Amino acid sequence: MAFSLGKGLIAVVVFAYGLFTVVLYGALAIKSGTFFRRRTEKETLELHLARDRMWNLTKKYSGLSHHFITLTNGLKIHYMSNTAPGSPAAQDPEKPLVILIHGWPDSWAIWRYIAGSADLQGAANLVVLDMPGFGGSGRLDKYSATRVLESMTELIILLRLKYGVDDESKSNKKRTVIAAHDWGCVVAMRLAAEAPALADRWILSNAPLPKLARANIVRLWISARKMFTTALNSPLSSRTPMLQAFRTIGPILRQALLSGYIFAMQLPFPFVRFFLTGGNSSLLAGAHRKSFGQYKPTIEERSDAMSTTMGPSLAESKSRNESGENYPTEIDYNHEFPKILDMASYYRQGAAAATWHKSLETITSLHSIAGENELRRTSSGAGIFDEGLPGAFKAPVTVIWGQNDLALDRRICLDGIADYMVKNSQVIMLPHSGHWTPIEKESRAAMEAAIQWALGGEKGNVETAVQAAYPEATVAVRR
Ligand SMILES: *[C@@H]1O[C@H](CO)[C@@H](O)[C@H](O)[C@H]1NC(C)=O
Ligand SMILES: *[C@@H]1O[C@H](CO)[C@@H](O)[C@H](O)[C@H]1NC(C)=O
Ligand SMILES: *[C@@H]1O[C@H](CO)[C@@H](O)[C@H](O)[C@H]1NC(C)=O
Repeated sequence: MAFSLGKGLIAVVVFAYGLFTVVLYGALAIKSGTFFRRRTEKETLELHLARDRMWNLTKKYSGLSHHFITLTNGLKIHYMSNTAPGSPAAQDPEKPLVILIHGWPDSWAIWRYIAGSADLQGAANLVVLDMPGFGGSGRLDKYSATRVLESMTELIILLRLKYGVDDESKSNKKRTVIAAHDWGCVVAMRLAAEAPALADRWILSNAPLPKLARANIVRLWISARKMFTTALNSPLSSRTPMLQAFRTIGPILRQALLSGYIFAMQLPFPFVRFFLTGGNSSLLAGAHRKSFGQYKPTIEERSDAMSTTMGPSLAESKSRNESGENYPTEIDYNHEFPKILDMASYYRQGAAAATWHKSLETITSLHSIAGENELRRTSSGAGIFDEGLPGAFKAPVTVIWGQNDLALDRRICLDGIADYMVKNSQVIMLPHSGHWTPIEKESRAAMEAAIQWALGGEKGNVETAVQAAYPEATVAVRR
């Protein structure tokens, strides 16, 4: 009884806070004038051009062409690459594989600057993918941890095969680097913890490691509660413990304040749709404007950003790549944001923190690609018998953190992260960058430098490599 009462109360609080957030954001958008603002003719035209540039399958984008992979569950994944899968160049032993995974509410195109780099394209086979339910990929029936992580694992294993990392005779013939941002980073963090054989180096930017964030919240909550109790028990000298208690709980309150949108996404679907796309998508437009940091984007750049979220329009949905492949047909491309509820479902159906029930096929294929890496990992102190903290990484990671992230409290996301990392891992802070590290000019140079370091065999320090592109970068944690 008490339990269900508690659950009911939580549901009410989540609903109320979610609704409050919808109203608040709506009011702010009305006040700033963006809610009723129509797209100008020029903006409509630019958006049309941006979607043709990014999503027309007959076109290349900065040296990248369009490709698809269909998984065993029928899910069709869209990705961009500088190299045709299975071609001699894809098999080139000198060309490591780099996989880039976007966040929310984005698609492959959040990496358009980094993946367009001629240096990177010269040094590696780049794969820039759309996660299930985003961009040009198909949708899952459910976005549970198991559905999402099984799909992503199968996808990465297929890519490794198509780009010559593994074959029948041998695995890990060359390096695989995975770089991920925001929600893609949440997913990649889970993979680095639960399927570490998928890559040699994980470059992870601006997202919480779910188990660590939870542990930090619980820890701060418990010590704040102790301080409140002390304060209440000795009311005469209670000022200091009371202040301390508030200071301790500060990061939780701040994170809750910053996370209003997550609560809004728990509401019934019509509210979610209104929240994300109502008022002529003023919320998304605002988020995209912020993604450029201090830089004022041109109308063309703003259209590119919105097109990143929208994916292909009805026009591009009818295009085909040179081999006749087209976008998944189960999507209704008449909508401006046909997959917005799929995207929201990542927040609703447990993809971040719920248990991943691995299928036998997944376990078998992960084991078969692990090969010698399994042995190396065991000797580095993160083997089968040394599981570490729940959710801890089992592969070397380089966390790159834009310090002015408006959505994530650093103390919740990073405090104690060293205990979750294996040898050869780092946290690098970018002091004057925000959340969207693949977009802002300085931070994307830092990301590219870290990727270059990783695919070049990790010669020298990663911080030296990053500092060459971003002199103020500092190392906060090193293992
Ligand atoms: C959004 O813009 C369209 C025209 O582009 C306009 O018809 C519509 O009224 C606008 N919506 C709101 C809520 O202002
Ligand atoms: C079109 O997509 C298919 C499926 O991914 C891929 O094999 C092929 O290389 C692509 N064609 C071109 C010309 O990029
Ligand atoms: C895609 O691009 C091609 C080549 O530029 C163009 O001919 C075609 O009309 C475009 N397709 C769509 C659906 O816009």
